[in-house]
Amino acid sequence: MSAPQVIRAEGLSKSFVVGRDLLGRPTRRVRAVDDVSLSVGARETLALVGESGCGKSTLGRMVMCLIPPDHGTVEMHGQPVSHRSERDLRQVRRKAQLVFQDPYSALNPRMTAGQLIGEPLMLHDLVPRADRAARVAELMEAVGLAAPQADRYPHEFSGGQRQRIVIARALAAEPEIIVCDEPVSALDVSVQSQILNLLVDLQERLGLSYLFISHDLGVVQQMADRVAVMYLGRIVEIGTAAEVLDAPRHPYTRALVASAPVARPGKRRGSPPVEGDLPSPVAPPPGCHFHTRCPFAEDICRREVPALISGEAGGAAAACHFRDSLPPAEPPRPAATPSPALARLMTAFHAGSVP
Ligand SMILES: Nc1ncnc2c1ncn2[C@@H]1O[C@H](COP(=O)(O)OP(=O)(O)OP(=O)(O)O)[C@@H](O)[C@H]1O
Ligand code: SF4
Ligand SMILES: [Mg+2]
Repeated sequence: MSAPQVIRAEGLSKSFVVGRDLLGRPTRRVRAVDDVSLSVGARETLALVGESGCGKSTLGRMVMCLIPPDHGTVEMHGQPVSHRSERDLRQVRRKAQLVFQDPYSALNPRMTAGQLIGEPLMLHDLVPRADRAARVAELMEAVGLAAPQADRYPHEFSGGQRQRIVIARALAAEPEIIVCDEPVSALDVSVQSQILNLLVDLQERLGLSYLFISHDLGVVQQMADRVAVMYLGRIVEIGTAAEVLDAPRHPYTRALVASAPVARPGKRRGSPPVEGDLPSPVAPPPGCHFHTRCPFAEDICRREVPALISGEAGGAAAACHFRDSLPPAEPPRPAATPSPALARLMTAFHAGSVP
Protein backbone atom coordinates (compact mmCIF):
# COMPACT_ATOMS: atom_id res chain seq x y z
CA MET A 1 0.00 0.00 0.00
CA SER A 2 1.35 3.46 -0.88
CA ALA A 3 2.17 5.92 1.94
CA PRO A 4 -0.59 8.42 2.76
CA GLN A 5 -0.19 11.86 1.26
CA VAL A 6 1.24 14.58 3.50
CA ILE A 7 -1.92 16.60 2.94
CA ARG A 8 -5.17 15.51 1.34
CA ALA A 9 -8.14 17.80 0.97
CA GLU A 10 -11.53 16.48 -0.11
CA GLY A 11 -14.44 18.54 -1.37
CA LEU A 12 -13.36 21.86 0.14
CA SER A 13 -15.77 24.76 -0.35
CA LYS A 14 -15.72 28.26 1.07
CA SER A 15 -17.88 31.30 0.48
CA PHE A 16 -17.63 34.78 2.00
CA VAL A 17 -20.49 37.15 2.74
CA VAL A 18 -19.90 40.37 0.75
CA GLY A 19 -23.29 42.06 1.16
CA ARG A 20 -25.93 42.32 3.93
CA ASP A 21 -29.39 43.88 4.18
CA LEU A 22 -30.42 46.44 6.80
CA LEU A 23 -31.03 43.67 9.33
CA GLY A 24 -27.54 42.31 8.79
CA ARG A 25 -28.72 39.24 6.88
CA PRO A 26 -26.37 38.03 4.12
CA THR A 27 -27.55 39.02 0.64
CA ARG A 28 -24.45 38.42 -1.44
CA ARG A 29 -21.75 35.77 -1.19
CA VAL A 30 -18.55 35.18 -3.10
CA ARG A 31 -18.02 31.50 -3.72
CA ALA A 32 -14.24 31.58 -3.35
CA VAL A 33 -13.62 27.81 -3.48
CA ASP A 34 -16.14 25.31 -4.80
CA ASP A 35 -15.76 21.58 -4.12
CA VAL A 36 -12.01 21.25 -4.56
CA SER A 37 -9.99 18.12 -3.82
CA LEU A 38 -6.23 17.82 -3.97
CA SER A 39 -3.32 16.12 -2.30
CA VAL A 40 0.40 16.77 -1.91
CA GLY A 41 2.82 13.90 -1.42
CA ALA A 42 6.15 13.77 0.38
CA ARG A 43 8.87 15.85 -1.32
CA GLU A 44 6.37 16.92 -3.94
CA THR A 45 5.55 20.38 -5.28
CA LEU A 46 1.98 20.94 -6.41
CA ALA A 47 1.58 24.30 -8.11
CA LEU A 48 -1.74 26.12 -8.03
CA VAL A 49 -2.25 28.60 -10.87
CA GLY A 50 -5.08 30.83 -12.01
CA GLU A 51 -6.16 34.43 -12.39
CA SER A 52 -6.39 36.81 -9.48
CA GLY A 53 -9.47 36.13 -7.36
CA CYS A 54 -9.95 32.51 -8.51
CA GLY A 55 -9.54 31.22 -4.93
CA LYS A 56 -5.89 30.11 -4.69
CA SER A 57 -5.08 31.77 -1.36
CA THR A 58 -8.40 30.78 0.18
CA LEU A 59 -7.74 27.17 -0.81
CA GLY A 60 -4.17 27.36 0.57
CA ARG A 61 -5.44 28.74 3.87
CA MET A 62 -8.06 26.02 4.19
CA VAL A 63 -5.47 23.34 3.48
CA MET A 64 -3.36 24.82 6.31
CA CYS A 65 -6.41 24.96 8.57
CA LEU A 66 -6.01 28.72 8.98
CA ILE A 67 -9.65 29.14 7.97
CA PRO A 68 -12.38 26.50 8.33
CA PRO A 69 -14.09 25.24 5.18
CA ASP A 70 -17.88 25.44 4.79
CA HIS A 71 -17.72 21.87 3.48
CA GLY A 72 -15.01 19.30 3.02
CA THR A 73 -12.22 17.71 4.99
CA VAL A 74 -8.45 17.93 5.39
CA GLU A 75 -6.26 14.95 6.27
CA MET A 76 -2.62 14.97 7.28
CA HIS A 77 -0.81 11.65 6.76
CA GLY A 78 -4.19 9.96 6.45
CA GLN A 79 -5.47 11.36 9.75
CA PRO A 80 -8.51 13.64 9.55
CA VAL A 81 -7.97 17.09 11.03
CA SER A 82 -10.86 18.36 13.08
CA HIS A 83 -11.37 22.11 12.94
CA ARG A 84 -12.92 21.91 16.39
CA SER A 85 -9.91 20.33 18.09
CA GLU A 86 -7.31 22.86 19.28
CA ARG A 87 -4.73 20.09 19.52
CA ASP A 88 -5.26 19.06 15.86
CA LEU A 89 -5.10 22.66 14.70
CA ARG A 90 -1.89 23.34 16.63
CA GLN A 91 -0.26 20.29 15.06
CA VAL A 92 -1.26 21.23 11.51
CA ARG A 93 -0.29 24.85 11.99
CA ARG A 94 3.20 23.77 13.00
CA LYS A 95 3.62 21.13 10.29
CA ALA A 96 2.14 23.32 7.54
CA GLN A 97 3.83 26.71 7.34
CA LEU A 98 3.04 29.69 5.12
CA VAL A 99 5.43 31.82 3.11
CA PHE A 100 3.62 34.61 1.32
CA GLN A 101 4.17 37.41 -1.10
CA ASP A 102 5.13 40.36 1.05
CA PRO A 103 7.98 39.49 3.42
CA TYR A 104 7.87 42.92 5.06
CA SER A 105 4.30 42.63 6.32
CA ALA A 106 5.02 39.08 7.50
CA LEU A 107 7.68 40.28 9.94
CA ASN A 108 7.18 42.28 13.13
CA PRO A 109 9.39 45.36 12.56
CA ARG A 110 10.18 45.62 16.29
CA MET A 111 11.78 42.18 16.48
CA THR A 112 15.31 41.32 15.31
CA ALA A 113 15.90 38.60 12.74
CA GLY A 114 17.15 36.34 15.52
CA GLN A 115 14.04 36.91 17.64
CA LEU A 116 11.77 36.36 14.63
CA ILE A 117 13.42 33.08 13.71
CA GLY A 118 13.64 31.99 17.36
CA GLU A 119 9.98 32.69 18.12
CA PRO A 120 8.57 29.41 16.65
CA LEU A 121 11.22 27.44 18.56
CA MET A 122 9.84 28.92 21.75
CA LEU A 123 6.15 28.77 20.81
CA HIS A 124 6.31 25.10 19.89
CA ASP A 125 8.91 24.28 22.55
CA LEU A 126 11.15 22.63 19.96
CA VAL A 127 14.60 23.41 21.36
CA PRO A 128 15.79 23.89 24.96
CA ARG A 129 16.30 27.59 25.79
CA ALA A 130 20.10 27.13 26.09
CA ASP A 131 20.32 25.80 22.52
CA ARG A 132 18.06 28.35 20.85
CA ALA A 133 20.75 30.81 19.72
CA ALA A 134 22.73 27.99 18.08
CA ARG A 135 19.61 26.73 16.32
CA VAL A 136 18.79 30.25 15.08
CA ALA A 137 22.34 30.54 13.69
CA GLU A 138 21.91 27.15 11.98
CA LEU A 139 18.61 28.21 10.41
CA MET A 140 20.09 31.51 9.22
CA GLU A 141 22.92 29.66 7.59
CA ALA A 142 20.47 27.23 5.97
CA VAL A 143 18.74 30.12 4.17
CA GLY A 144 21.95 31.93 3.22
CA LEU A 145 22.07 34.59 5.96
CA ALA A 146 25.07 35.24 8.20
CA ALA A 147 24.66 34.52 11.92
CA PRO A 148 25.88 38.02 12.95
CA GLN A 149 22.88 39.47 11.08
CA ALA A 150 20.64 38.04 13.83
CA ASP A 151 20.71 41.37 15.68
CA ARG A 152 19.41 43.40 12.75
CA TYR A 153 15.79 44.52 12.27
CA PRO A 154 13.71 43.72 9.16
CA HIS A 155 14.14 47.21 7.65
CA GLU A 156 17.90 46.68 7.62
CA PHE A 157 17.57 43.81 5.13
CA SER A 158 16.82 43.77 1.39
CA GLY A 159 13.54 42.29 0.10
CA GLY A 160 15.23 39.01 -0.82
CA GLN A 161 16.93 38.78 2.58
CA ARG A 162 13.61 39.46 4.31
CA GLN A 163 12.05 36.59 2.39
CA ARG A 164 14.96 34.43 3.60
CA ILE A 165 14.07 35.41 7.20
CA VAL A 166 10.45 34.42 6.53
CA ILE A 167 11.61 31.07 5.15
CA ALA A 168 13.96 30.49 8.12
CA ARG A 169 11.09 31.29 10.48
CA ALA A 170 8.91 28.75 8.66
CA LEU A 171 11.69 26.14 8.85
CA ALA A 172 12.11 26.76 12.58
CA ALA A 173 8.72 25.10 13.13
CA GLU A 174 10.07 21.91 11.48
CA PRO A 175 7.29 21.79 8.89
CA GLU A 176 6.52 18.98 6.49
CA ILE A 177 4.73 21.17 3.98
CA ILE A 178 5.06 24.86 3.15
CA VAL A 179 2.30 26.75 1.38
CA CYS A 180 4.22 29.25 -0.74
CA ASP A 181 1.70 31.93 -1.78
CA GLU A 182 3.30 33.97 -4.58
CA PRO A 183 6.61 33.84 -2.66
CA VAL A 184 8.67 35.73 -5.23
CA SER A 185 6.20 37.99 -7.00
CA ALA A 186 7.16 41.03 -4.87
CA LEU A 187 10.88 40.55 -5.54
CA ASP A 188 13.17 41.80 -8.31
CA VAL A 189 13.60 39.30 -11.12
CA SER A 190 17.29 38.82 -10.27
CA VAL A 191 16.41 37.95 -6.67
CA GLN A 192 13.46 35.73 -7.62
CA SER A 193 15.64 32.94 -8.98
CA GLN A 194 17.85 32.98 -5.86
CA ILE A 195 14.81 32.43 -3.63
CA LEU A 196 13.38 29.76 -5.95
CA ASN A 197 16.74 27.95 -5.95
CA LEU A 198 16.81 28.17 -2.15
CA LEU A 199 13.34 26.60 -1.95
CA VAL A 200 14.39 23.77 -4.29
CA ASP A 201 17.57 23.20 -2.30
CA LEU A 202 15.69 23.12 1.02
CA GLN A 203 13.17 20.68 -0.42
CA GLU A 204 15.96 18.30 -1.41
CA ARG A 205 17.81 18.62 1.88
CA LEU A 206 14.84 18.52 4.25
CA GLY A 207 12.32 16.47 2.26
CA LEU A 208 9.73 19.26 2.27
CA SER A 209 6.49 19.32 0.32
CA TYR A 210 5.23 22.55 -1.26
CA LEU A 211 1.82 23.82 -2.27
CA PHE A 212 3.15 26.51 -4.57
CA ILE A 213 0.73 29.28 -5.55
CA SER A 214 1.72 31.44 -8.51
CA HIS A 215 0.32 33.21 -11.52
CA ASP A 216 3.69 33.03 -13.29
CA LEU A 217 3.86 29.93 -15.49
CA GLY A 218 7.61 30.39 -15.93
CA VAL A 219 8.08 30.06 -12.18
CA VAL A 220 5.62 27.16 -12.07
CA GLN A 221 7.51 25.36 -14.81
CA GLN A 222 10.69 25.70 -12.76
CA MET A 223 9.19 24.49 -9.48
CA ALA A 224 6.29 22.10 -10.01
CA ASP A 225 6.01 18.32 -10.11
CA ARG A 226 2.27 18.64 -10.66
CA VAL A 227 0.08 21.59 -11.60
CA ALA A 228 -3.54 22.39 -10.72
CA VAL A 229 -5.29 25.13 -12.70
CA MET A 230 -8.13 27.03 -10.98
CA TYR A 231 -10.93 29.00 -12.58
CA LEU A 232 -13.60 30.75 -10.50
CA GLY A 233 -13.14 28.58 -7.43
CA ARG A 234 -12.82 25.20 -9.16
CA ILE A 235 -9.88 23.12 -10.36
CA VAL A 236 -10.35 22.77 -14.11
CA GLU A 237 -7.20 20.79 -14.86
CA ILE A 238 -4.69 18.84 -12.79
CA GLY A 239 -1.79 16.63 -13.81
CA THR A 240 1.97 16.41 -13.98
CA ALA A 241 3.76 19.63 -14.94
CA ALA A 242 4.66 18.11 -18.32
CA GLU A 243 1.04 17.09 -19.00
CA VAL A 244 -0.48 20.43 -18.05
CA LEU A 245 2.16 22.81 -19.43
CA ASP A 246 3.21 20.89 -22.56
CA ALA A 247 -0.11 19.35 -23.59
CA PRO A 248 -2.90 21.27 -21.83
CA ARG A 249 -6.34 19.76 -22.36
CA HIS A 250 -8.76 22.29 -20.89
CA PRO A 251 -9.49 25.30 -23.15
CA TYR A 252 -8.74 27.69 -20.28
CA THR A 253 -5.34 26.09 -19.57
CA ARG A 254 -4.59 26.23 -23.28
CA ALA A 255 -5.25 29.97 -23.31
CA LEU A 256 -3.01 30.53 -20.27
CA VAL A 257 -0.17 28.44 -21.68
CA ALA A 258 -0.51 30.05 -25.10
CA SER A 259 -0.33 33.52 -23.61
CA ALA A 260 2.56 32.78 -21.24
CA PRO A 261 5.75 34.63 -22.12
CA VAL A 262 7.77 31.43 -21.77
CA ALA A 263 9.78 30.12 -24.68
CA ARG A 264 8.84 26.48 -25.13
CA PRO A 265 10.71 25.55 -28.30
CA GLY A 266 9.37 22.61 -30.21
CA LYS A 267 6.10 22.57 -28.28
CA ARG A 268 2.79 22.97 -30.03
CA ARG A 269 1.08 25.91 -28.41
CA GLY A 270 -1.68 28.34 -29.10
CA SER A 271 -5.45 28.14 -28.93
CA PRO A 272 -8.41 30.10 -30.17
CA PRO A 273 -8.73 33.45 -28.39
CA VAL A 274 -10.70 33.62 -25.15
CA GLU A 275 -13.58 36.04 -25.59
CA GLY A 276 -15.39 37.97 -22.86
CA ASP A 277 -14.59 39.16 -19.37
CA LEU A 278 -14.02 37.09 -16.24
CA PRO A 279 -17.49 36.60 -14.72
CA SER A 280 -18.19 37.80 -11.18
CA PRO A 281 -17.47 35.19 -8.50
CA VAL A 282 -20.66 36.41 -6.80
CA ALA A 283 -22.78 34.94 -9.63
CA PRO A 284 -20.61 32.48 -11.56
CA PRO A 285 -22.15 31.07 -14.76
CA PRO A 286 -24.05 27.79 -14.32
CA GLY A 287 -22.70 24.50 -15.65
CA CYS A 288 -19.09 24.90 -16.72
CA HIS A 289 -18.02 28.28 -15.26
CA PHE A 290 -15.84 28.82 -18.33
CA HIS A 291 -18.65 28.55 -20.88
CA THR A 292 -19.09 32.34 -21.26
CA ARG A 293 -15.57 32.60 -22.67
CA CYS A 294 -15.02 29.20 -24.21
CA PRO A 295 -14.92 28.97 -28.02
CA PHE A 296 -16.02 25.31 -27.84
CA ALA A 297 -19.05 25.78 -25.55
CA GLU A 298 -22.27 23.93 -26.41
CA ASP A 299 -25.63 23.64 -24.67
CA ILE A 300 -24.51 20.94 -22.25
CA CYS A 301 -21.75 23.29 -20.98
CA ARG A 302 -24.39 25.81 -19.84
CA ARG A 303 -26.34 23.12 -17.96
CA GLU A 304 -23.97 20.55 -16.51
CA VAL A 305 -20.83 20.86 -14.43
CA PRO A 306 -18.13 18.79 -16.16
CA ALA A 307 -16.38 16.20 -14.00
CA LEU A 308 -12.66 16.58 -13.38
CA ILE A 309 -11.42 13.33 -14.95
CA SER A 310 -8.75 12.10 -17.32
CA GLY A 311 -9.53 11.63 -20.98
CA GLU A 312 -9.63 8.32 -22.83
CA ALA A 313 -5.92 8.61 -23.58
CA GLY A 314 -5.09 9.28 -19.90
CA GLY A 315 -2.96 12.29 -19.03
CA ALA A 316 -4.09 15.29 -17.00
CA ALA A 317 -7.61 15.34 -15.57
CA ALA A 318 -9.63 18.14 -17.19
CA ALA A 319 -13.10 19.43 -16.27
CA CYS A 320 -14.41 19.67 -19.82
CA HIS A 321 -17.31 17.81 -21.45
CA PHE A 322 -15.31 17.67 -24.68
CA ARG A 323 -11.90 16.75 -23.27
CA ASP A 324 -11.59 13.92 -25.81
CA SER A 325 -12.89 15.67 -28.89
CA LEU A 326 -11.34 19.16 -28.84
CA PRO A 327 -9.15 19.99 -31.84
CA PRO A 328 -5.44 19.79 -31.07
CA ALA A 329 -3.79 23.00 -29.92
CA GLU A 330 -2.52 25.05 -32.85
CA PRO A 331 1.19 25.81 -33.26
CA PRO A 332 2.02 29.40 -32.33
CA ARG A 333 0.99 31.99 -34.91
CA PRO A 334 3.77 34.49 -35.67
CA ALA A 335 3.16 38.05 -34.48
CA ALA A 336 -0.60 37.69 -34.32
CA THR A 337 -2.30 40.58 -32.55
CA PRO A 338 -4.39 39.16 -29.68
CA SER A 339 -8.07 40.04 -29.55
CA PRO A 340 -8.88 42.78 -27.00
CA ALA A 341 -10.48 40.16 -24.72
CA LEU A 342 -7.42 37.89 -24.84
CA ALA A 343 -5.12 40.88 -24.32
CA ARG A 344 -7.13 41.81 -21.20
CA LEU A 345 -6.96 38.23 -19.92
CA MET A 346 -3.21 38.08 -20.53
CA THR A 347 -2.55 41.43 -18.87
CA ALA A 348 -4.67 40.57 -15.85
CA PHE A 349 -3.11 37.13 -15.54
CA HIS A 350 0.48 38.28 -15.75
CA ALA A 351 -0.13 41.28 -13.49
CA GLY A 352 -2.00 39.09 -11.02
CA SER A 353 -4.95 41.50 -11.02
CA VAL A 354 -8.35 41.18 -12.56
CA PRO A 355 -10.94 43.97 -12.68
N1 LIG B 1 -12.19 37.47 3.77
C1 LIG B 1 -12.85 37.65 2.63
N2 LIG B 1 -14.03 38.30 2.60
C2 LIG B 1 -14.71 38.46 1.43
N3 LIG B 1 -14.29 37.99 0.24
C3 LIG B 1 -13.11 37.34 0.21
C4 LIG B 1 -12.32 37.14 1.40
N4 LIG B 1 -11.20 36.46 1.06
C5 LIG B 1 -11.28 36.25 -0.26
N5 LIG B 1 -12.41 36.76 -0.77
C6 LIG B 1 -12.87 36.71 -2.16
O1 LIG B 1 -12.78 35.35 -2.55
C7 LIG B 1 -12.30 35.24 -3.88
C8 LIG B 1 -11.04 34.43 -3.89
O2 LIG B 1 -10.02 35.18 -3.23
P1 LIG B 1 -8.52 34.63 -3.09
O3 LIG B 1 -7.77 35.65 -2.32
O4 LIG B 1 -8.55 33.25 -2.57
O5 LIG B 1 -8.05 34.61 -4.61
P2 LIG B 1 -6.59 34.42 -5.21
O6 LIG B 1 -6.71 33.46 -6.33
O7 LIG B 1 -5.62 34.11 -4.13
O8 LIG B 1 -6.29 35.87 -5.81
P3 LIG B 1 -4.88 36.64 -5.94
O9 LIG B 1 -4.15 35.97 -7.10
O10 LIG B 1 -5.27 38.04 -6.27
O11 LIG B 1 -4.15 36.52 -4.65
C9 LIG B 1 -12.12 36.67 -4.39
O12 LIG B 1 -13.28 37.05 -5.09
C10 LIG B 1 -11.97 37.46 -3.12
O13 LIG B 1 -12.41 38.79 -3.30
S1 SF4 C 1 -17.11 22.08 -20.72
FE1 SF4 C 1 -17.71 23.25 -22.52
S2 SF4 C 1 -17.48 25.39 -21.90
FE2 SF4 C 1 -16.38 24.17 -20.42
S3 SF4 C 1 -14.31 24.14 -21.17
FE3 SF4 C 1 -15.29 22.32 -22.02
S4 SF4 C 1 -16.09 22.94 -24.01
FE4 SF4 C 1 -15.59 24.80 -22.89
MG1 LIG D 1 -3.93 35.09 -3.37
